[in-house]
Amino acid sequence: MLKDEVLKLICRENDYISGEAISRKLGVSRAAVNTAVKALRDDGYEITSSTNKGYLLTNSPDILSKGSISALLPDSRSSELYYYDSVDSTNTVLKTLASQGAGSGTVVIADHQTGGKGRRGRSFVSPSGCGVYLSYLFKPESGFDKISDLTSWTAVAVADAIRNAYGFDSRIKWVNDLLMNKKKICGILTEASVEGESGYIDTCIIGIGVNVNESEFPSEISGIATSISIENGGKKFIRAKLASEIIKSMDRLSEDWPDSAYYLNRYRELNITCGSKIIAYPQKIENGQGRTGTAISINDDFSLRVEFSDGSTENLKSGEVSVRGLYGYT
Ligand code: BTN
Repeated sequence: MLKDEVLKLICRENDYISGEAISRKLGVSRAAVNTAVKALRDDGYEITSSTNKGYLLTNSPDILSKGSISALLPDSRSSELYYYDSVDSTNTVLKTLASQGAGSGTVVIADHQTGGKGRRGRSFVSPSGCGVYLSYLFKPESGFDKISDLTSWTAVAVADAIRNAYGFDSRIKWVNDLLMNKKKICGILTEASVEGESGYIDTCIIGIGVNVNESEFPSEISGIATSISIENGGKKFIRAKLASEIIKSMDRLSEDWPDSAYYLNRYRELNITCGSKIIAYPQKIENGQGRTGTAISINDDFSLRVEFSDGSTENLKSGEVSVRGLYGYT
């Protein structure tokens, strides 16, 4: 869309950019540039114009669009970025694109999900104008046993993105929920397909949902969920900034994969589960009985070492066990 391309140019310029320069760069008429600028102003972008100097962006609203996100990404990024106002689930849309040949690094992002998916068949509340709902396609060329490393690496990548975008630290609850003040601000759902013969992960859809500007949550989850805005006194944040930082972090992760000590070290630093009393639930057993214990440490394969109340010690693997705090969510 021309509006996105014009926004990208105006956004990247720290000074005025002339209508002439925009029309030359984009190969369109001056009239088309004027129309695009008017449409951006109608969206809420504050763009000053001066007869001699051209256009200057003075203020941006919190709008997610292909233009607002890609303006903040390096020009050298060549992977596709798809933006939608509303989809059922960005993971589902990306899965279809992957089956049609989309490459590693392809991103689907939406302002709203009507059927946002969480782990273990739960839904992920995804209202419009509030969060960042993003799916990233990765072809890791690793065996299936590395999948829990990948989701743990992603938790670190998203925590780094939040820090780079807004300057706040979040903490990681094993295995990959991000928390602020002990409540969840981000969930990650990794869906992988395995190549039958080699047992290698063919395609990995990494779905990331961050609660940014929500001011409340449905009563069923209000005790455990929060947003970056709520934790910062109701201040609203520009979501395109976070979306672009998540994409940059995930691009970095893809380059670092699978050999980087950084992710395990940083995971251990940000982890909030170790030292806590926990209840471990087997995932595959319906209404399975929880076992209480104390989380001790994160092993090199991101499994959680737990000492149970009966004195036994076990390494818990994500996918097999979920963990709840004995005295609350953490
Ligand atoms: C969880 O905490 O249970 C995982 C939540 C994952 C939510 C994200 S939002 C973007 C992507 N699309 C989905 O349908 N789910 C993931």
